[in-house]
Amino acid sequence: MGAPSMPGGDDPKRYRRTLIMERISQLVGNGSISSYWLHPSRLPVEVVVTLANRHQGIGSALLKRLIRRIPAAASRPLEAACWSDDEASAAFWRKHGFMPIKRTDIGTIDLTSPALVPPPASMLPDEITIYRGDEIAHEDSLWDDIAQLHERVYRANHDWSAVAAIDLATARQIFLDPDDIIPHALLVAIRDGRPFAMASLRSLTDAGYSELGWTCGDRELGEEGRHAADFPVSQCLILARKWGWIVGVEADHSDHVLHGVVKRWPLIDHRVWVNYSRPR
Ligand SMILES: CC(C)(COP(=O)(O)OP(=O)(O)OC[C@H]1O[C@@H](n2cnc3c(N)ncnc32)[C@H](O)[C@@H]1OP(=O)(O)O)[C@@H](O)C(=O)NCCC(=O)NCCS
Repeated sequence: MGAPSMPGGDDPKRYRRTLIMERISQLVGNGSISSYWLHPSRLPVEVVVTLANRHQGIGSALLKRLIRRIPAAASRPLEAACWSDDEASAAFWRKHGFMPIKRTDIGTIDLTSPALVPPPASMLPDEITIYRGDEIAHEDSLWDDIAQLHERVYRANHDWSAVAAIDLATARQIFLDPDDIIPHALLVAIRDGRPFAMASLRSLTDAGYSELGWTCGDRELGEEGRHAADFPVSQCLILARKWGWIVGVEADHSDHVLHGVVKRWPLIDHRVWVNYSRPR
């Protein structure tokens, strides 16, 4: 049994290595480690073994070899992930010293839920106005404020995985990607001329599948910021129901707004994705 290496990268900041395991010229498994610039404090690792060859030590051998090859300069804690109901993978990662660090609820929001009613306008304090993305001019500097609000909230929601420095241009690219954002399905709550909370439906496919997010309330405003997001979130879901869109959600437990959504509205096909970490 051999473990040839695929082309990789040794730059400590962009370290990447893939190994494939063969038995008599048949692929039996592969494993990879590749750094992710946005979350540089850990090296994500993946191992997959073909069904017929599982539980024979192949995954463990791949993981051991991958770890052995990490050069000292690129070395840092490792991160892995699997579905919570994938007992073999969960046992595998735990056996190799990985501990859970984050849970993410993933599923489709049940838009038929009777709990989904339009939020009363009276819920909104007088000084807050809701704008749709297509009501904000392309060149308006409000877009910069919206990107920066996102960046702040994203960072606060990722205390479990340090976020790299992000400049304004990159924040706009990540959080307001024109290929992703649907301006008329993006709702921003504004107070004193500044964005305060928002929600959006994005990544619409031809099949009518969209995702709820980027969704946030300004954490600097505590509970008030968090609750302010409830209004644009409910409005987005009601629009989706009107347009016949399907709405998926991925809610990290550390994301107060999205986690609140999955607690309030039932999910169809609800699964939980678990991230694990271990020291190098
Ligand atoms: C997780 C996986 C990589 C393990 O590979 P493997 O070669 O079967 O693992 P190993 O034989 O090295 O087993 C190591 C340990 O993992 C655990 N394990 C592996 N298979 C298991 C099973 N079916 N049930 C429970 N524990 C299991 C055990 O703790 C085992 O130790 P043991 O042999 O002392 O019992 C493999 O099951 C797999 O590829 N699963 C699919 C993963 C996948 O789909 N990934 C895509 C993204 S989620």
